[in-house]
Amino acid sequence: MPKRIIPVSSGKGGVGKTTVATNFALSLSRFAPTILVDLDTGTSSVRNSIGVPVANDLYHFFRKGRRLDECVTSLPDSWDPDGLYRGFGFVAGPLHLIEEVTNFGPEKKARLCDAINELPADYVVLDMKAGLDANVVDFLPWSNSGILVFTPHLPSATLAASDIVKAILFRKLRIVFSPSSPFYTQVKDPRTTTLLVNDLLDEVEDVYEPGLPNLDAFLVDLAAALGDHPVLEQVARTVEHFRVHYVLNSFNGVDEAFDTAVKPFVENLVRTVSERMTLTNLGWVVRSDEIHQGNCRKRPVLLAPPDGRPAARPTRGERELDALIRETTGLTADPRPRKPVSPVPVRPDPESALARELDALNRMYHRRGNRDDPRDNFDYLTARALHLLDRARPSEFGTARLVGPAEILRSFFPGGAARPSR
Ligand SMILES: Nc1ncnc2c1ncn2[C@@H]1O[C@H](COP(=O)(O)OP(=O)(O)OP(=O)(O)O)[C@@H](O)[C@H]1O
Ligand SMILES: [Mg+2]
Repeated sequence: MPKRIIPVSSGKGGVGKTTVATNFALSLSRFAPTILVDLDTGTSSVRNSIGVPVANDLYHFFRKGRRLDECVTSLPDSWDPDGLYRGFGFVAGPLHLIEEVTNFGPEKKARLCDAINELPADYVVLDMKAGLDANVVDFLPWSNSGILVFTPHLPSATLAASDIVKAILFRKLRIVFSPSSPFYTQVKDPRTTTLLVNDLLDEVEDVYEPGLPNLDAFLVDLAAALGDHPVLEQVARTVEHFRVHYVLNSFNGVDEAFDTAVKPFVENLVRTVSERMTLTNLGWVVRSDEIHQGNCRKRPVLLAPPDGRPAARPTRGERELDALIRETTGLTADPRPRKPVSPVPVRPDPESALARELDALNRMYHRRGNRDDPRDNFDYLTARALHLLDRARPSEFGTARLVGPAEILRSFFPGGAARPSR
């Protein structure tokens, strides 16, 4: 059973989800067994970016009765001669568009979610399709964003990424306040309250409706209508504790990325969702020919054969940072380029999480002068993610399980049995 499922989504297409998801999963697999699942079932993104033979894929899961773990493809030795990625596997989407496998309904979705929840890996990374429909949002965690990818080169993708946050929160609120929710057994006038709450939700969701701009305003109106009800506090906590994690792809420098991507992203979130969420930038990936050529050759950049670069010597900054870390935390940052000590995945060590993160940032920053190296970017992103996986609560980053509406309702109303929908 996975310790954590981490979806990579973007709302908008073509911003680098598959590139980030694939290389991130590869990078994670050096620390613990990791499976990448292609949920972009229409275009087989992952199988197009990793060109190894696939025996079983989602078609075999849905049509041929294979278990999902039987549909995991590993890398052949020729792709991984040093055995660095032995902990990696992927579940490919179907070869061609097959309507019932591509656009599966609720029953198939529930079956796939259950199977993902049982995959034999510590980490499961989901490569999502573009869009905000239920076949995307139902696979996302409901207490945080998973990893959102957007790029300074496509401003509309920035807005789409923040719309995902809104979609996740609304999915949860729609379930909590659905007509069949036990919530209405706890109020005086269930019929009027159902109408009122859902009208308010419609109003916030409707961006053309200026009356209720975001969830903060919704909570104020809900409090005015319901008075002091425990569900209000729970809903407020849902919004307040929501964590947003993002990666900037095709990064073009701090100032440009801030002005054209980060700032509009945050502004849109505040305007349409809430100003109370916590945002984390997990890192960036530079625009790189190596990445693009790797994708075109169906061999991700992290699996490219070594290019014979000389090992970088530690710089003065690296040595100083190492001394600082030793002094302040008792930990050591290793300024040498990463060479995994063991080809077998090593479990993340919480004690060195911070040092690992600083070490990766340090190398990424100092090497930028000569040449932007996407490998450093993925090292840093992975170190940041491992830090969260080690330290944060499971609800803060990704999800321990993909859950359906019934489970979400139970978490809100542990004692209440749902009444049938009207
Ligand atoms: N950092 C990068 N540097 C150079 N090219 C990149 C980078 N990231 C992505 N690309 C290129 O951009 C294109 C889209 O990337 P990718 O397929 O990863 O995006 P996506 O969001 O998964 O797209 P889709 O929505 O179609 O699934 C590909 O041609 C890829 O090679
Ligand atoms: Mg893709």
